Amino acid sequence: MSAANADREFELAAGRATAWVARYLESVRDRRVLPEVVPGQVRAALPAAPPEQGEPLEHLLRDFERLVLPGITHWNHPRFFAYFATTGSEPGILAELLIAALNVNAMLWRTSPAATEVEEVACDWLRQAVGLPDPIFGCINDTASSSTLYALAAAREALDLDVRRRGLAGLPALVLYASEEAHSSVEKAGIVLGVGQEGVVRVSTDAELRMDVGALERAIATDRAAGRRPFAVVATVGTTSTTSIDPVPAIAELCERERLWLHVDAAYGGAAAVLPELRWVLEGCERADSLVINPHKWLFTPMDCSVLYCRREEVLRRAFSLVPDYLATTEGDEARNLMDYGVALGRRFRGLKLWFVLRAFGLQGLREVIAAHVAMARDLRSWIEAEPGFEVLAPTPFSTVVFRHRAGDEANRRIEEAVNRSGLALVSHTTVRGAYALRMAIGNLRTTPDDVRAAWDLIREAATEVLP
Ligand SMILES: Cc1ncc(COP(=O)(O)O)c(C=O)c1O
Repeated sequence: MSAANADREFELAAGRATAWVARYLESVRDRRVLPEVVPGQVRAALPAAPPEQGEPLEHLLRDFERLVLPGITHWNHPRFFAYFATTGSEPGILAELLIAALNVNAMLWRTSPAATEVEEVACDWLRQAVGLPDPIFGCINDTASSSTLYALAAAREALDLDVRRRGLAGLPALVLYASEEAHSSVEKAGIVLGVGQEGVVRVSTDAELRMDVGALERAIATDRAAGRRPFAVVATVGTTSTTSIDPVPAIAELCERERLWLHVDAAYGGAAAVLPELRWVLEGCERADSLVINPHKWLFTPMDCSVLYCRREEVLRRAFSLVPDYLATTEGDEARNLMDYGVALGRRFRGLKLWFVLRAFGLQGLREVIAAHVAMARDLRSWIEAEPGFEVLAPTPFSTVVFRHRAGDEANRRIEEAVNRSGLALVSHTTVRGAYALRMAIGNLRTTPDDVRAAWDLIREAATEVLP
């Protein structure tokens, strides 16, 4: 095929694909949220080997609809309430198309100056939107798991140990702290950094599932007395299970006193700080050494986009900068090379989609949607509280409600299963103080109060069906 023909074919196929995307977004609510497939079904429908000859793009689009789509769980569905509900919004989708077309690698400033500088601007706009202090360095990673890993690598670097050349051998055992409710990515970071899972001390929580600062203080003292070397604390603003908020101001004070790096995981909850009435959720975070917010969670940016902020840019850079001859540049201090702030060399132009989303919504637009989600969650909470047999298990500071039927774990499992099997809504579960709990997170752009009501009605109906 000639280049001209290929371009023409692309134009036609891209036109069809964008028309399909627009229709999909408009009508996604008519689809089942959870697909009706069994393990291996999608794979069995696909050819086992690649084609010898290339196929027309039109056939690819046809088979996407025919073979792939039936196995999709629709995260962009307005009644997707599982995990943390998200949205790939139109400006973000548009940006993804352009990012793929440019296909630049933002590893060095010179490998695409605009990719680095748009990323810097997008991170700074988000910083302003949530009220973090200036100056603070920001860069975009794939996920919060990576951002937290990099932050904790910087924390270890700040100890000025010669880990880079000699490894951990001969050093005192390093320890870091996170609450029992913190995300598993903290433990994964511990594994990768060589402090091990046992080097991640889980601190107990109070009645509202927030880190107990007294317990943290005691754990640090115990570890120091035993010859271990505390180096970091991870506080969470919006835990995965119940969205509880650790007392960051008190933790920050303790970290300053103990000279420990404070990293804040605000992967989900940070977005809420765009609302003036919820700005308080990041109180104390201006004293953190690093903080992560995931625009791909509650800021309508398509997967993947996780912003890592770090007040000690030089330390983060020292932890990761390793410049082989073939990547050396002459720009000097004039320009940042973003490969110096993490493990990945190749870096996608993620800044464009965050910049598009922030521009297309505007701060006011973001505030309206997030405020609507918070209001819907409050309504849902009030319905649950008023319903005999059900109970709410945790505070609802954001847009996620955690609750259960009093009939016990098995009953709640069966309610969840019945709702999800219906295809009309998707909810998920967690465990709160050992009890199996249902969890509804409201975070999709198209979710309306009617969607929340419909899901709640399904839960109530399922409860009457599964209970004896
Ligand atoms: C509080 C919190 N931190 C970190 C993560 C991990 O996020 P990611 O999937 O971006 O690694 C999650 C995921 O839900 C989360 O809820």
